[in-house]
Amino acid sequence: MNKDSQKAGRRLRFEIFRYNPEDSMSRPHLDTFELVETPYMTLFLALHRLREEQDPSLQFDFACRSAVCGSCGMLVNGRPRLACRTLTRDIAQTIRLHPLPVFKLIGDLSVDTGTWFRAMADRVESWIHAKLPFDPTAQEARMDDDLAAAIYEGERCIECGCCVAACGVANVRPNFVGPAGMNRIAAGMNRIARFMLDPRDERSGDEWFDVVSSDDGVFGCLGLMACHDICPKSLPLLEVYAFLRRKMLAAALAPRSRAQL
Ligand code: SF4
Ligand code: SF4
Ligand code: FES
Repeated sequence: MNKDSQKAGRRLRFEIFRYNPEDSMSRPHLDTFELVETPYMTLFLALHRLREEQDPSLQFDFACRSAVCGSCGMLVNGRPRLACRTLTRDIAQTIRLHPLPVFKLIGDLSVDTGTWFRAMADRVESWIHAKLPFDPTAQEARMDDDLAAAIYEGERCIECGCCVAACGVANVRPNFVGPAGMNRIAAGMNRIARFMLDPRDERSGDEWFDVVSSDDGVFGCLGLMACHDICPKSLPLLEVYAFLRRKMLAAALAPRSRAQL
């Protein structure tokens, strides 16, 4: 008997966090639902069926259904995951769902990741800083293939927030920037590394040092790599941290060479 037929027809028990911060009468609690599992059921499908068949007031976010938009992050039995790419057959029969921590709660399983990621982007000035004015008639600057591939790797982040939710430091220190943006954990650190790599960004080592080298930046990271383990897009966050730490350590040890970072 294969894995599918063994588990077909399980009666799944869902324990789902419910709370509406807009309603003064609402109190945080868990609601329980049951659903018969179907082959290849994802959490996305299960939640839609629960909303259609049992409780139309259940709040959760989805858009793409294919791990592209980053909307459907939630805690599944305590672990941050994308609901649209989580097969129910791969998890226990009792499924406890909570909203991602760190982000502002909208209601039930729905959180506002957008405000958080915008603040991170503002903090690390997440755009190319070039000193020359833009010339629309100039030829495109050439870039080495390997470097372009390394920059693209950072751009694969879908800003789902799973790494942020998994980060113990981000959970207790709201100003921690983390791996991609640095005030914003793995996503933030990754963002910083992406622009540091880009030769079109002319920020000096000193300017980067001010953004990254503090306890709210790369030196506040405990390095236990929950973010790396949890990232649903398998971004190489371990390498991102190592890259940033090497850069900032070099700047700290040789302050006069910061400009050559
Ligand atoms: S390594 Fe740990 S402390 Fe550092 S950003 Fe990742 S989850 Fe947070
Ligand atoms: S780094 Fe990974 S886990 Fe973090 S926001 Fe981007 S895609 Fe999500
Ligand atoms: S619905 Fe877009 S990532 Fe899950």
